[in-house]
Amino acid sequence: MIEFDREKTCFFLNGKNYSYVMAVNGVGMLQHIYYGKKLSSSDAAFLVKTHGEAYAPHADDPNYDMQTDMMPSECGSFARGDFREPTVVIERADGARMSRFRYLSHQIEKGALPLQGMPCARQADETLIVTLKDDFSDTEIDLKYCVSDASDVLVRSLAVRNVGSEPVQVKKAFSFCAELPDTRRVFSALRLTGAWGRERAPVVSPLSEGVLRLRSSRGYSSHHMNPFLALIEENAGEERGECYGFALLYSGSFALTAELTHNGITRVQGGIGDEFFSWKLCAGETLETPQAALCYSAQGLGGMSRAYHDFFRTAVVDPKYVYARRPIVVNNWEATYFDFDNEKLFAIIDEAAKLGVDTFVLDDGWFGKRDSDTSGLGDWTVNENKLKGGLRAVIDRCKQRGLKFGLWFEPEMVSEDSDLFRTHPDWAIAKAGVEPCRGRTQLILDFTRKEVVDYIFEAVSKILRENDISYVKWDKNREMTENFTKDLPPDRQGEFCHRYVLGFYDLAKRLTEAFPDVFFEGCASGGGRFDGGALYYFPQSWTSDDTDALERTKIQWGTSILYPVSSMSCHVSACPNHQTGRTTPFATRGAVASLGATGYELDLTKLSEEEKQQVIKQVENYKRIDELILKGDLYRLSDPFNSNYFCEMLVSKDKSHAYFVGVQFHAYPCDHERVLFLHGLDAEKTYRIKELGVTASGAALMDAGLCLPHLQDCGAWTWHIEEV
Ligand code: GLA
Repeated sequence: MIEFDREKTCFFLNGKNYSYVMAVNGVGMLQHIYYGKKLSSSDAAFLVKTHGEAYAPHADDPNYDMQTDMMPSECGSFARGDFREPTVVIERADGARMSRFRYLSHQIEKGALPLQGMPCARQADETLIVTLKDDFSDTEIDLKYCVSDASDVLVRSLAVRNVGSEPVQVKKAFSFCAELPDTRRVFSALRLTGAWGRERAPVVSPLSEGVLRLRSSRGYSSHHMNPFLALIEENAGEERGECYGFALLYSGSFALTAELTHNGITRVQGGIGDEFFSWKLCAGETLETPQAALCYSAQGLGGMSRAYHDFFRTAVVDPKYVYARRPIVVNNWEATYFDFDNEKLFAIIDEAAKLGVDTFVLDDGWFGKRDSDTSGLGDWTVNENKLKGGLRAVIDRCKQRGLKFGLWFEPEMVSEDSDLFRTHPDWAIAKAGVEPCRGRTQLILDFTRKEVVDYIFEAVSKILRENDISYVKWDKNREMTENFTKDLPPDRQGEFCHRYVLGFYDLAKRLTEAFPDVFFEGCASGGGRFDGGALYYFPQSWTSDDTDALERTKIQWGTSILYPVSSMSCHVSACPNHQTGRTTPFATRGAVASLGATGYELDLTKLSEEEKQQVIKQVENYKRIDELILKGDLYRLSDPFNSNYFCEMLVSKDKSHAYFVGVQFHAYPCDHERVLFLHGLDAEKTYRIKELGVTASGAALMDAGLCLPHLQDCGAWTWHIEEV
């Protein structure tokens, strides 16, 4: 609920468990007052007086600009006395850069606000738009706050508008500025870092004076740093303590900063990567920034994760797919790599049908001259030398066996050894006369240019139109380097990276709208573009190219800090594992893969009879738990980074049933760590765990805990917990 106190010029935003308060102060600036545990708006006067006046600049002081350095602000200004990192920087036509933003007007609207050309929250109860005016340029800023009564996520973004007659250069435009002025609390900063094959590992370090900057300049959100930051109170844990999350719904180069300043206030902000950014804004034009999802939790990281999971499910993921059972796929990549023909594929399809798998996904190598990763990208026509009878033959085989068919594309890329590149060499991102920087021997298409996006839309559409395809895996396998387009003048090259992302979103929107019955899965060399922006178009993404079950426990644990398990594609692969060389039991691989959108990434024909029987059981199990995967509340019980166990459980919203997966990395005699406390159950209810042969109250399972039964190295437990 959004309330406005006219007398105090105070905005009071209340979500499920949080309040967010700001007020227009004596010098007309929008001052941040409070963000934390839910309060009543009847306390607005108290908050404005104590928390507000303590930091407010004094209007009658001729030096008041300098006092803005102490003031928690809703939009950090520049070169006027606030020396912290600014939120928005405007350069006027005469080259002067300084801003002081003051309140102009506001409006409160019902529902969410659609964002042109970018992913955004599909729903909210109300949206507040506060318009600020810059004292030194003809620009206005709309600060937007989308609030839902039943959610702990507050969605923010801003727009910069040129209301003058001359162009200005926007040198920086973050999406939000949030200040945490409560100096009682010492925060640690949690980020999800990694690299290819070990994405989204949580790293926590104390926040101290100076600026913590999380960033990607890779052109996409990246394996290395997810566009997410959480500030967690000292001593907060999985299920206790306060934390604040800041997640960008954005897939491009980004920055998120946390600046702890001299007076104990922490300023958190973020949005489009500001390092090489600039945007020429002509008279009458508006620049919209991507949305950021802020979350407050008093129930530790687990509470924050569950609030984010609900948010992504109810407000971001396509409603058509969010609660629909995900296809159980078999993907041929690790089974064949580029080396396949009809026979090999047919054998996998036949076996998949016998085992209950429902979709066969044909990965890289089916098109153009694509026998290795050095050629063919951009030529989206089937290679009939490899696939006799074309895609139709494979699809017919799937249909005969009762399977659906999925197909891999890498729409944003081009190989130099391709017909597309030979015809349109200038469509690749490169500067004429300069040796291009290659990644996986490929170049990126210039998606800032409409004709290029149009062409790819047509090429992919033709394949989807002419074939019965129910699933697309949309890959992206290199980073962006040159950041240059021949189509923009020099004073607009700073727009390149963001314009590329808009081109990607444009294609994703057009394809998902043109083919509403096709399920799109995201991928970027594994989990390189796993972000809230991509989730808007792709209900799930390939979580990582590392398919080793033990490594996956860490990757899935870290990913779940922000993203719901249903957004993670998790496949059982062959052993020795192709990335680590490790051998783990087939059952363990199935157990870990069941905590997501499950599937197989191996040659099913090479499985032993015993393993095939396990696949049949895994598929049955998956169908039994699908509702928990899609809608359940996740409780992380034992951390694979810091213990010998990975344990997680999913609990139904009504707490009538739950599903538990545990993995023990090493078997030790006389292991002391074996007591495990369940979470999220109803203390008053009685539950039965069939696999253990126990019946107990929720209270006992949560407070007395369970002694984990003995397992061998790398073994797994899976339990179904049912109310009796
Ligand atoms: C990326 C993906 C893999 C596979 C290959 C194909 O690495 O992450 O799953 O699709 O590309 O080239």
